[in-house]
Amino acid sequence: MKKLVVLTGAGMSAESGISTFRDSGGLWEKYKVEEVATPEGFEANPGLVLDFYNQRRKQLYTCQPNEGHLGLAALEKDFEVYIITQNVDNLHERASSTNVLHLHGELTKACPVGDPYTVYDIPPGKDLQLGDTDPQGRQLRPFIVWFGEAVPMIEPAIRQIADADIFVIIGTSLNVYPAAGLLGYARRGQPIFLIDPQEVHTCRTDIHFIRALASEGVRQLTRLLKEYR
Ligand code: APR
Repeated sequence: MKKLVVLTGAGMSAESGISTFRDSGGLWEKYKVEEVATPEGFEANPGLVLDFYNQRRKQLYTCQPNEGHLGLAALEKDFEVYIITQNVDNLHERASSTNVLHLHGELTKACPVGDPYTVYDIPPGKDLQLGDTDPQGRQLRPFIVWFGEAVPMIEPAIRQIADADIFVIIGTSLNVYPAAGLLGYARRGQPIFLIDPQEVHTCRTDIHFIRALASEGVRQLTRLLKEYR
């Protein structure tokens, strides 16, 4: 089977009711990035940051995968599909995609401050509070890659893209590095599809642009991919 690698961003989950970041009405219009998405913000006001992610986690449990997530999972019958997501929700997994790499962490997980390699599940319905510690007594924080922090999963993501037969990008403004640089690892001649309702500026001219929301875009993509099976 051909290897299909899909990079997804916030637009993938927009139709599930999860806000994007930079669209009008997006999360970064309502919150200050430096307050809720940096290690310095957490140090300055950990309660505010924990609350921000507690609210987003609660909201996630009210959302369902949309047809786009389900359509990508269905492609597994014809392709070896690898999803690289910038999203911290678990909607790809809940749509039954089997290979999902999270570049920016996961809302339903926690890690001790200073140790992003030890990861714990947050039980559904539970909030993360100041004073919640791991067995070694270390304060737990959201397992989220904040601005200014290393992105440990970028290396495996690069390897997957460089090794792909087909590369697909869905619902990301490609504003945030290192994720935005992943497009540069797609080989020349490798078919590249980009699904987004808005124009997305890239440095490449060899992209097949599908201007649509994720659900409709994945439907069109599925039809187009018939000739690549
Ligand atoms: N279907 C597909 N794409 C959509 C939809 C939709 N229904 N709605 C919006 N979009 C597109 C927008 O046009 C935009 O190009 O999704 C993109 C969302 O861009 P951003 O809000 O910048 O989100 P993203 O690229 O995922 O952000 C990257 O930035 O703040 C950080 O860590 C956060 O992972 C996030 C990273």
